[in-house]
This record gives sequence, C-alpha cells and structure tokens, in this order.
Amino acid sequence: MKNIILVGFMGSGKTTIAFELSRRFNMSYISTDDLIEKREKCTINEIFTKKGEEYFRNVEVEAVRDACSMKNVVIDLGGGAVMRDENWESIRLSGVAVCLTADENTIMERTKKYKHRPLLNVEDPKQKIRNLMAKRAPFYAKADHCVDTGKLTVKQAVEKIAEIVEEHSRKAGGE
Ligand code: S3P
Repeated sequence: MKNIILVGFMGSGKTTIAFELSRRFNMSYISTDDLIEKREKCTINEIFTKKGEEYFRNVEVEAVRDACSMKNVVIDLGGGAVMRDENWESIRLSGVAVCLTADENTIMERTKKYKHRPLLNVEDPKQKIRNLMAKRAPFYAKADHCVDTGKLTVKQAVEKIAEIVEEHSRKAGGE
C-alpha cells in the first residue's frame, strides 16, 4: 500500500489518528514536527521564537520531503505544511492525502489545554483559528479525501479513513 498522509488544521486529530492507523495497517508512524525537533535539537516553540516562522517553513519542506520518501509510513503532517507547493509535490509522489477537519469550536476545545503550538499562543486564539482556517481552506481542499473528525471517536475516524484508503488503493490498482 502507498503511504498515508494526514493533513489538516492543528487539533484536527492527526497525531492520534495517524498513530492508530499505523498500527491498523502495520505501517510506521512518522511526524514531520518530531523530525524537525530532532534535527534542530529544539522545540517548535523555540524555533518560532528564535528563528521565525519562515525558517521553520523551510526546515519543514525538508522534513516533509524526507518523510514522504520513506516506505510504508503513515505521516502526521504539520498543520501549515499544506501552504507550500513543494510539499504537495512530495505528498503526491508519496501516497494518499487525507484531510482531517473539525469546526472552529472543536479545534478551540481540543487545543486550548496545550502550549506547544506557537501560532495559538496568542491573546485571542479563537480569532486566530478562524483566520488561519479561512486562509488555509483552499490548501486543505487539495487533499484526495476529507474526513470530519468532530463527531467521531478515534476508533470511528480510524475505521472511516481505513475504508477510504483501502478503496483508494483498490481504484489505483492495488498499489
Ligand atoms: C502548525 C502546526 C503544528 C506545527 C507548528 C505549526 C501550523 O503542527 O507544525 O506549530 O502552522 O498549523 P500540528 O498541526 O501537528 O499541531
């Protein structure tokens, strides 16, 4: 089977679902954010503070390329990676892209207890979520498939994505 690439906004469920999917299909789990932190030897927050978002996005392009060239992996892609065309080139060569979605209230609820996302460590995270979601919508729409995780349990989401991916690979000729 081709690789599975989960794209989607922060808090859409990529990490948990990618991990469970990797177990379901006996594939490896890989996160572009983890790769970046390992290579840069610091946290995403520190990269944004010390070197800025542009630097992070450039490092992210490398991480996406490397993750996408691995075999038999489920990739948990950083939420903003969809904004760069080069990343879509890597994704298309790698496998099937599934976008996870959830409405802004769900995203707010899921993300508010964490502090590891620099873009949401702002005075009005809800407004930020709204703005970023609107700006990114056309980029998330480039995914092959879309699954709303808002009202699904992790198990249900994994089952749904598994069906989509199996169907996708059947249509692609069992690759
Ligand atoms: C970002 C999402 C984060 C991480 C960074 C920027 C974004 O990953 O890459 O904080 O721009 O949406 P998650 O989507 O895994 O939270």
